[in-house]
Amino acid sequence: MSSMTRIQAPVSEELEHFKAHFKTAMKTDVVLLDRITRYIIKRKGKQMRPLFVFLTAKALSGENNALGEKSHVAASLIELLHTATLVHDDVVDESPLRRGFFSIQALWKKKIAVLVGDYLLSRGLLTAVDNEAYDLLKITSEAVRLMSEGELLQIEKARRLDITEEVYFEIIRRKTASLIASCCACGAASVNADDETVERMREFGELVGLAFQIKDDLLDLGDGDRIGKPTGGDIRERKMTLPLIHTLQTADRSKRKRLIRLVKYRHHDNAAVQEVMNEILQGPGMAYARERMNELKAKSLKLLDPVPDSPAKMALQELVEFTIERKR
Ligand code: IPE
Ligand code: IPE
Ligand code: MG
Ligand code: MG
Repeated sequence: MSSMTRIQAPVSEELEHFKAHFKTAMKTDVVLLDRITRYIIKRKGKQMRPLFVFLTAKALSGENNALGEKSHVAASLIELLHTATLVHDDVVDESPLRRGFFSIQALWKKKIAVLVGDYLLSRGLLTAVDNEAYDLLKITSEAVRLMSEGELLQIEKARRLDITEEVYFEIIRRKTASLIASCCACGAASVNADDETVERMREFGELVGLAFQIKDDLLDLGDGDRIGKPTGGDIRERKMTLPLIHTLQTADRSKRKRLIRLVKYRHHDNAAVQEVMNEILQGPGMAYARERMNELKAKSLKLLDPVPDSPAKMALQELVEFTIERKR
């Protein structure tokens, strides 16, 4: 049994139901939009966020019964928001590929991708409104705000190429960790956990989310096999990720100047991108980023201590492990 199958086992019934829920939430009578949403449904991702929602909910509800409607609302809502941000992110990053296939912006052009992203975002938020799940709406709207801020902060810093490790963590906290934090907070809120527990699970998700983005940045440098999106993209987009930041910090003056010049002026040149990648791969940056990622993992797992042992809790712990071991 693969680790993913094992992780999914405690909530397999919920995941089965999720498929239909997610599909219904996207329904439209606009033919073009319908064609695109069907394309999206066929090329689904890892769906880790619904898993975070369901496993958190089940670990806290302390029952073996199937989860209620509110947990399903949370899962669909968050996967819709996630999908919306990916469709938009590929416009921003001009990425031709997503999940091993052409991205929406590459296939249908940018203006359509922007509108499809907005559509998915609104359908996500409406899922909560339709179910009067205002607590979920509050948690996720906050994440949407943080994600937009994070992506813009990243663009601001990409222009200046002067980002410190501290700023890097601020960017990824907003653009990625906030949504995974909201998965766990919503999972908890969906089974009526008390405020303190909701907050602790939010913090848990935030730490896992930070580790998740560090892993994504490592994968972009070829830390996996076929990841379903191009490698080296971050350098091409002048995105300063942790392995690069640490490489610059520890390089001597002349190497640092050369690397910055390559990223700044030659980021569209394959040979230059490859040279920067090689410098990162040979230096201490990769190991350093893995170290920080492992620290975050350990910190996050500690927050699960008060949760009583159960198959769902074990699967949640394993999902944290999967987050940093994954190959795509
Ligand atoms: C990709 O998220 C976007 C980031 C926050 C790095 P995932 O890696 O979870 O994407 P899918 O849904 O599995 O494609
Ligand atoms: C994460 O940043 C994107 C979002 C949080 C929406 P990236 O730009 O690194 O994500 P990928 O690598 O394209 O999936
Ligand atoms: Mg991107
Ligand atoms: Mg990336």
